[in-house]
Amino acid sequence: MTEPRFLHAQWSSRMAFIFAASGSAIGLGNIWKFPYLAGDNGGGAFVLVYLLCVIAIGIPIMIAETLLGRRGRQSPINTMASLAEAAKASPHWRYAGWLGVIAGFLILSYYSVIAGWAMAYILKINSALFAGIDAAGSARLFETFKSTPEYQVIWHSLFMAATIFIVSRGVSGGLERATRYMMPALLLMLLVLDVYAMNSGGFAQGCAFLLEPDFNKITGAGILAAMGQAFFSLGLGMGSIMVYGSYLPAHVSITRSSILVASADTLVALMAGLAIFPLVFANGLSPTMGPGLIFETLPIAFGQLSGGGWFGMLFFTLVFFAAITSSVALIEPAVAWLSENRGLSRSRASLYSGSACWLLGLGTAFSFNIGSELKWFGKTVFELVDLLTAEIMLPLGGVLVALFAGWILSREHSEAELEMKDARHYRIWRILVRYIAPAGVLIVFLDAMGLFGR
Ligand code: PHE
Repeated sequence: MTEPRFLHAQWSSRMAFIFAASGSAIGLGNIWKFPYLAGDNGGGAFVLVYLLCVIAIGIPIMIAETLLGRRGRQSPINTMASLAEAAKASPHWRYAGWLGVIAGFLILSYYSVIAGWAMAYILKINSALFAGIDAAGSARLFETFKSTPEYQVIWHSLFMAATIFIVSRGVSGGLERATRYMMPALLLMLLVLDVYAMNSGGFAQGCAFLLEPDFNKITGAGILAAMGQAFFSLGLGMGSIMVYGSYLPAHVSITRSSILVASADTLVALMAGLAIFPLVFANGLSPTMGPGLIFETLPIAFGQLSGGGWFGMLFFTLVFFAAITSSVALIEPAVAWLSENRGLSRSRASLYSGSACWLLGLGTAFSFNIGSELKWFGKTVFELVDLLTAEIMLPLGGVLVALFAGWILSREHSEAELEMKDARHYRIWRILVRYIAPAGVLIVFLDAMGLFGR
């Protein structure tokens, strides 16, 4: 193998990698997106397909992506290029790296707008407006907020500025330390909300909605949404896990770390779902509320709990932290590439890519108000960017990673990198990345295009 041109610093320990990878995985995808997608796509059947995708497609690809990162030890584009060269494969593999950089970029553009909502709610939620609020009141407040372009731009700008600030300071340090406390705190907070939901009067109905699969309620498009969500939530298929893998010391078990990260990610999503749907049913709301779901339902709980305002502030602060650790991962492949290949300093690389992302994000910020009539194929800018990335680019990027790790990288290399104690485990992983994951993604794509005529 050719020597990598740039040797990165390595993570201080296995735990540091795990926290960083969970930081990338756990974010708005778990708390904001998973519940509303589940709500829009019929609940239980969506959740079941989602879980299957995490296990059969997501985890094997996460292992593959981390492994490629650790072997390549460079930005995703350079990693793909140098590993392809070493394996005497086509240099075109580097386009898989490009696909990831672009996907991360597009995702961050809207991610920042939604994270801005969470930031705004940190301040709003403890105000008199929310005290004792009912469902209609909460919906009204959210609606006003969403349809005011100035608010959207201000919060989007603040969030992007925060991302640029953190990314320009480098990979280790503050962020690594912060996730250590933020993630457990978020989990605890969700637990409290779950307990509140249990007593809300809608718990049985909420659980049934989320956990009892009814396959009549899910369509091909819903199955595609579930698969896309698995990629999105695990943070796969766009190179960020590859970047983190590139900082991972040798001999740390990639398999165990990946399973741990995926389990934590799934747990947070399910806990968020269990907090939200009981509230939906207890308040006579519809689960198909779309992207506003958590912002319309959770404030009802905060408004009615005593001390709920403070509690809500803490909750949205933690959501903000979860979002920022993901946004950093989303922009990292672009920043790593700019600093490796264009010789830019990290701060310049972050500033340029963050600003470009901000500009693009205005499209999403306005898609909830003055630009809501601007549609292609019946979709607003936000919907279009979201579908293009989560449902097409990430699965495609993930499949390319799987194919590369399964077919291009030599067996010796992947076996040496994974160091699995049990040879059977290695064989299972290899079958999953060579056949099952690519075929699974293909079938879901074809099904969504209506090729199986359901
Ligand atoms: N996984 C993050 C979330 O759930 C989003 C993300 C997607 C992060 C892709 C990195 C890469 O919010």
